Amino acid sequence: MTDASPPLAGVVGWPIGHSRSPALHGHWLSRYGIDGHYVPLGIAPANFETAIRALPKLGFRGVNITTPYKQTVMSLADQISDRAALIGAANTLSFREGGGIYADNTDGHGFIENLRQNAPGWSARSGPCLVIGAGGAARAVICALMNAGAPEIRIANRTRQRADGLKDQYGARVTVVDWNRASDAMAGAMTIVNTTSLGMTGQPPLNLSFTAAHGDAVVTDIVYSPLITPFLAEAAANNLRTVDGLGMLLHQAAPGFRQWFGRDPEVDAELRRAVQAA
Ligand code: ATR
Repeated sequence: MTDASPPLAGVVGWPIGHSRSPALHGHWLSRYGIDGHYVPLGIAPANFETAIRALPKLGFRGVNITTPYKQTVMSLADQISDRAALIGAANTLSFREGGGIYADNTDGHGFIENLRQNAPGWSARSGPCLVIGAGGAARAVICALMNAGAPEIRIANRTRQRADGLKDQYGARVTVVDWNRASDAMAGAMTIVNTTSLGMTGQPPLNLSFTAAHGDAVVTDIVYSPLITPFLAEAAANNLRTVDGLGMLLHQAAPGFRQWFGRDPEVDAELRRAVQAA
């Protein structure tokens, strides 16, 4: 890399065509007049390690990591943030001057900042949280809620064993609820979140009843396509406050942008519009 070359970053996944990250970072780059580039990098599993190790030599300052590499990339890191270690997965790599790879996970940060921005007054501390799902996204959400002071986190997952595994790992504040009791577990919960892929375009909906939910509960979904999932529509029909999942995607991107391009980017309506239009 020469000092004269513009900074590069990107997103690595397989496949990568669906990623909105290039539109997101591209918007910030042009908005702030930064002479840099953010590119989609579709890398097949057989080439993953070789490609990642070549990126710093090509002028990349770092990359986002998406499906299916968030867990496997951990074995390539020289340094891992505490939150990435706790989650067991990374979504943001930064390449150090000396060649080292630093792995971080900003998904939980994105989750919390989305709620703070779009549900004013919301706090993880205000009461029990109900997390639907026990996959990779759930891990990031649970760690973030614990870190933000949630007093209790109830997990309901179709495969109960996976929820039990999270309780074993994350400890006493976690409780496991049977999948068919998920609606009942809304009683008293102040934060209710879907972390499964149910409700995504082309997937069946997540059908839960909100009749037991507390009137002040905040309901959110990590699915952002469609923006209003059937789960969020049902919550809104029960007069509950809802926050869509797009803001989580926007906020998780900010720490990487700051690291690679040296500017604290704004997450606002203009960015939302640009990403939705992409
Ligand atoms: P991610 O990393 O995106 O969270 P994942 O690790 O494959 O992906 O987890 C997907 C989550 O969606 C899991 O909680 C999964 O439930 P299981 O552990 O029982 O598989 C949940 N999920 C996916 N399809 C589902 C369905 N049809 N019904 C209920 N839960 C479903």
